[in-house]
Amino acid sequence: MTTTAATETTPSTGLDHLEIRGVKKVFGENTAIERLDLTVHKGEFLSLLGPSGCGKTTLLRMIAGFEAPTDGEILLAGKDIVSLPPHRRPVNTVFQSYLLFPHMNIADNIAYGLKQAKVPKPEIAQRVREVLALVQMEDFAGRRPEQLSGGQQQRIALARALVNRPQVLLLDEPMSALDRKLREEMQLELKRLHTKLDTTFVFVTHDQDEALAMSDRIVVMYDGVIQQIGGGEDIYANPHNGFVAGFIGKQNFITAEVTSTDSGIARMRTANSTVLEAPSLDLRPATAAGQPRQLQVGDRVRAAIRPERMRVARATADTTAANSARGTVMSYSFLGDVIQYMIVVGDNDEILARVPAAGTQPLAAGTEVELSWEADAVDVFGSETGDVGPREGGA
Ligand SMILES: Nc1ncnc2c1ncn2[C@@H]1O[C@H](COP(=O)(O)OP(=O)(O)OP(=O)(O)O)[C@@H](O)[C@H]1O
Ligand SMILES: [Mg+2]
Repeated sequence: MTTTAATETTPSTGLDHLEIRGVKKVFGENTAIERLDLTVHKGEFLSLLGPSGCGKTTLLRMIAGFEAPTDGEILLAGKDIVSLPPHRRPVNTVFQSYLLFPHMNIADNIAYGLKQAKVPKPEIAQRVREVLALVQMEDFAGRRPEQLSGGQQQRIALARALVNRPQVLLLDEPMSALDRKLREEMQLELKRLHTKLDTTFVFVTHDQDEALAMSDRIVVMYDGVIQQIGGGEDIYANPHNGFVAGFIGKQNFITAEVTSTDSGIARMRTANSTVLEAPSLDLRPATAAGQPRQLQVGDRVRAAIRPERMRVARATADTTAANSARGTVMSYSFLGDVIQYMIVVGDNDEILARVPAAGTQPLAAGTEVELSWEADAVDVFGSETGDVGPREGGA
């Protein structure tokens, strides 16, 4: 909207970026990272999101220099940093455990790296004061780590990384040791810091809510391979494959067989005769070359419908209409603004539905209901659970 933002929105030159090119990491027999390309924009908040063992920490450690890639280049501002030892890289890491020195007070903990680097004393004092103010811990300089709470220690760990004024701050699940409330506070705190600083943040988490709440872009990883890159909204609304569709947000997967593909509409039938109609014949994932794969009669697929796209009404007459199903409420939970129903359709299709709570009385367990959804709520994925083949980033 504003004209003054022009310089901020100008795409950065390649020189500003952290670029990971063809990076691979093999440990013995085990490939932790398949050949991977990733560009991180200057100043962005990028999250690496994926299940345990997918290679998030390994990728971070290669950027930090604690691990050497088996192959590939890592460029910062256009220069390959792979040959530089960790302390020579303008990169700092905040780990899950804070690793503060117990016998030093807070100020000395933060100053440690600067002292090693022989930064003049007055400058050290000044920079320590600055970062303590940045993390709002000015009054704690003289305390020892054991005299701080977990959240306070984590702030000091952040301060200790930021005092080096890194171009890139790497954060490896820095909040996972904190309880939920403190974690949410620290999320806000991190966002505040990120907004104030010019620093690029690469944040590792296996918590999708955390990634959605914090990130400019999310990199979804599985098994050492990037599955999708994009903004949270984009990935949520437009998952490239079944893994991403199931990993980000709640999802209903319904196994079905394609019965017709007339006029560009895919018609599918489930084992208990629910008929689904999707407004497109495109199957996901697309081919490796990005070409859409067309559905064909007889294909076994997994249709995906988000819980919030489900409508729930008391059943009246039996329905045979497409994109609707008769079911029974098994349970419901009140989640504040929405009511979440677990509904069983046929013998064993369990469907989650989330409906706005305002002004409605929950339907009790045992209530016969009619579920329905719009055709454009239906995404169609390959039937194999392993449909998580390599995908180039979509962003
Ligand atoms: N030093 C190592 N030697 C051998 N294998 C390793 C080493 N470090 C990691 N791995 C393997 O590489 C794979 C990726 O591990 P990594 O720690 O990067 O996963 P992660 O995504 O960070 O998982 P988590 O969410 O559990 O922290 C795993 O299969 C792991 O066992
Ligand atoms: Mg890890």
